[in-house]
Amino acid sequence: MPGDSGQTDMRLLRKLCIILSVSMRSCSETLFSSLPNYGAFPRFRVWYWRKRGYAFAKRCYIARDVYFLGKVSMGEGSSISNNCMFNGGKVGITIGKKVMIAPNCVLAAFSHGYSDLEKPMIDQPVVEAPVVIEDDVWIAANCTIAKGVRLGHGCIVGSNSVVTRDVEPYSIVGGVPAIVIGTRKSKAKEAVA
Ligand SMILES: CC(C)(COP(=O)(O)OP(=O)(O)OC[C@H]1O[C@@H](n2cnc3c(N)ncnc32)[C@H](O)[C@@H]1OP(=O)(O)O)[C@@H](O)C(=O)NCCC(=O)NCCS
Repeated sequence: MPGDSGQTDMRLLRKLCIILSVSMRSCSETLFSSLPNYGAFPRFRVWYWRKRGYAFAKRCYIARDVYFLGKVSMGEGSSISNNCMFNGGKVGITIGKKVMIAPNCVLAAFSHGYSDLEKPMIDQPVVEAPVVIEDDVWIAANCTIAKGVRLGHGCIVGSNSVVTRDVEPYSIVGGVPAIVIGTRKSKAKEAVA
């Protein structure tokens, strides 16, 4: 039928347009992410992600090879170092003000469902819970922050940690899974004494 072939052509054209727009977006991400870390380039990257719809405050720093998916927001003066990955899904990752995130960190507001033994995990629904990073937090190198975690104001996550539970304000945590290894308040007292 002549009508049928017309509809098939339209469907093909629509698919082509979608593929083209996704490819263009992916190319622009790669281009902006690979710009160097000096001069205005990190701010240029912030501008790019803001244009993509991300709620990033103006005075932020995003280093090379950092990627965002889903809902992510970031407060003023925060800094993300090289090669980090953020996936806020639908529920979101909220990064406060003056937060430092060191290289190679992964923050995800979701986990794969695995309760159904009959179904491959890739086909099971994801479980989402928001991640909140309060102001003045330092996440050191190579850390993973799991879904549903809140990092309290002024806390430190030591390098190579996997954080699966909330972290109290001003505490220092480390390890896999991360446990409390100190507090900034006691360190401050030691420094004065
Ligand atoms: C978390 C950190 C800031 C703590 O430093 P600190 O206050 O000087 O702590 P200390 O070295 O006195 O260690 C205190 C205890 O915690 C342990 N600890 C320190 N860092 C740890 C970590 N990342 N994971 C697990 N345990 C850790 C120490 O072994 C020590 O245990 P002990 O008392 O049983 O001996 C530091 O270890 C760290 O991870 N720095 C990040 C470095 C980094 O990533 N830099 C680049 C990015 S900016």
